[in-house]
Amino acid sequence: MKIVAIVGARPNLIKVAPLLDALAKRPHVETVLVHTGQHYDERMSDYFFRDLGIREADHYLRVGSGSQAVQTAQVMFALEPLLIQLLPDLVVVVGDVNSTLAATLVAAKLHIRVAHVEAGLRSFDRTMPEEVNRVVTDSLSDLLFTTEQSGVDNLRSEGVSDEKIHFVGNVMIDTLLKHRERALSLGLPARFGVEPGTYAVVTLHRPSNVDDDPMLGRFIDVLAAVQDTMPVLFPVHPRTRARLEEFGLAERVADLKNLQLLEPQGYVEFIGLLAQARIVLTDSGGVQEETTILGVPCLTLR
Ligand code: UD1
Ligand code: UDP
Repeated sequence: MKIVAIVGARPNLIKVAPLLDALAKRPHVETVLVHTGQHYDERMSDYFFRDLGIREADHYLRVGSGSQAVQTAQVMFALEPLLIQLLPDLVVVVGDVNSTLAATLVAAKLHIRVAHVEAGLRSFDRTMPEEVNRVVTDSLSDLLFTTEQSGVDNLRSEGVSDEKIHFVGNVMIDTLLKHRERALSLGLPARFGVEPGTYAVVTLHRPSNVDDDPMLGRFIDVLAAVQDTMPVLFPVHPRTRARLEEFGLAERVADLKNLQLLEPQGYVEFIGLLAQARIVLTDSGGVQEETTILGVPCLTLR
C-alpha cells in the first residue's frame, strides 16, 4: 500500500511525526512524505524535522507564501503531476492549513482516497481561512480521524456517515507526551533569565488579530499591562513580525522592558517554556490543546 503524507506548515510537522513513526512499523506500507513549502524558514520548518526526528521529505514543492487563493492554487498546481506520477492508494492530510485543503482537492479529483487527521473541528466562523479549509477537506475526505467528541458530533450533524468517522485521539498530544520530559530537563526558563512558574508565554498569529492595525495595537496595550506584573516571553510568528514592522509597532514593543521578543522557537524549546509558564496567552489552536494537557492556565486571545 502506498500512502502519501502531506505537510506544509509548522503544526503539520508536529502532527505528522507520530503518524510517520507508526507507518514505518508496517512493512506492507510505503510512505511518501511531501512538503509543500508553505512554511519555509528554518525556524518554521527545518527545526521541527530536527527536533521531532522526521526523515527528510521525499518531495519539496517550494510553494512559499501568497494570498489565500494563490497559495492554495500553487500547491494544487505542483501536487497534481506528482500524485499522477505516484498514484498512491491514500493521501493523508492533517490539520486545517491551505496545504491541507489544496492536497485534498487534488487527490479527490484524481479519485485518490483521502484521510483527514484532526477532522470535525469547527469554529463556526467562516471568516477564518481555516474554517473554510476544514469544511471542504472534511466533505471530500473518505476517512475522518477525530481528536475529540465535538469533532464526531459536528461531522454527524453535517450528515457524514458513521463508517467514515474514527475517534482516535490527538496526534499532536502524542508528540507532546513523547517530548515533554526532554523539554523539561533542558531548564529553558533560565536560558531566558526567568524563574519557572513566574512568567507568561505569548503567541499571536491569527489574521483577525494581527493583520488589523488597531487590533494589533490593542494587543500590544494588553501585553504592556501584563509585563508590568510578570516577565513576558513572546516568540514572534513571521506573519506577526511583518505586521509589527508594517504598522510601526515594533519600536513600541521593543520599549517594553519586561517583555522579550523571541524568534520562533524550536519544538522542544517551546514546550520547555510552555510547561513551566505561570500563564499562556495565545491564539494558536495547538497551543491551547498543549496547555490543557500540561495543566498550564491559558487565555485564548480571540
Ligand atoms: C498558517 C495557517 C494557519 C496556521 C499557521 C501555523 C493557513 C490559511 N493558515 O498561517 O492555520 O495556524 O500557519 O503557524 O494555511 N512567513 C515567513 N516564513 C515562513 C512562513 C511564513 O516569513 O516560513 C510569513 C510570510 O510573510 C507569509 C506569512 O508569514 O505571508 C503568513 O504565512 P502563511 O503560511 O500564509 O500563513 P500563516 O499565518 O503562517
Ligand atoms: N510552536 C513552536 N514554537 C513556537 C510557537 C509554537 O514549536 O515558537 C509549536 C506549538 O508548541 C504547537 C505548534 O507550534 O505544537 C502550534 O503551531 P501554530 O501556533 O503555528 O499553529 P496552530 O496550532 O494555531 O495552527
